[in-house]
Amino acid sequence: MAGSAEQRRAPLDVRLLEGQKALVTGANSGIGKATAIALGRAGADVVVNYVAGAQEAEEVVARITGFGVRAYAHEADVSDEDQVVAMVARMVEEFGTIDIMVANAGLQRDAAVTEMTLAQWQKVIDVNLTGQFLCAREAAKEFVRRGVVPEVSRSAGKIICMSSVHQIVPWAGHVNYASSKGGVGMLMQTLAQELAPHRIRVNAIGPGAIRTPINRSAWDTPQAEAELLELIPYGRVGDPEDVADAVVAMASDLLDYVIGCTLYVDGGMTLFPGFATGG
Ligand code: BGC
Repeated sequence: MAGSAEQRRAPLDVRLLEGQKALVTGANSGIGKATAIALGRAGADVVVNYVAGAQEAEEVVARITGFGVRAYAHEADVSDEDQVVAMVARMVEEFGTIDIMVANAGLQRDAAVTEMTLAQWQKVIDVNLTGQFLCAREAAKEFVRRGVVPEVSRSAGKIICMSSVHQIVPWAGHVNYASSKGGVGMLMQTLAQELAPHRIRVNAIGPGAIRTPINRSAWDTPQAEAELLELIPYGRVGDPEDVADAVVAMASDLLDYVIGCTLYVDGGMTLFPGFATGG
């Protein structure tokens, strides 16, 4: 019983995030794209960050403005401090403030450890971990400065770190990526502890296997998909919208008392499916 985007129910037309301002990094493709669109549909104004692929970013902007909210695309490399500082400063200038930071941008540079170059290690740590630190830091400064605006949200701001099942699942051949996501888990928890007294909520979303360009080879042939499904008790590969809807919920006041949590959106991948019959 494979699922697909076509079979999804119509998106709920509830503007849970009316009047909020969101920034999504890596928002021109995959999970980031679906998330930026879902936030716009939920009533937020959205900055669509990208590092390459301006045309796709503009297409995402057009989808979002179609919901009657504001959006613009902003090119920046999340691992570059000056570019992240400038990106958030421009957002505060254009939208007045920021309420939701979705630190989503991420990449893989896979290799067996004996073959992995320092450049492959460093690139993944720079984008996936340092990039999230920089984005969270710049958002936190504005959240602390502005504080709670009760008409907008019960919290002074939300930081949502895009993690992975590999925050807790070791992954041979991907030591750079798994280490970056393990780091994201502790980054998120420590920031959650540090910022909660400011009424800032920091949480993570941990996607499993989602149909996006990052893992195309894992699902784009029937054989690859069949092998992948052995790792997914729920019996379908995830869609970007599965993750996007979780981000909307996490950013909304419905989950106002949820702090320092990783919500796995993985069809049960983190349940050690091999143990269903073994052990
Ligand atoms: C990775 C994908 C992988 C998935 C499940 C994600 O974080 O980016 O390549 O398919 O985890 O292993």
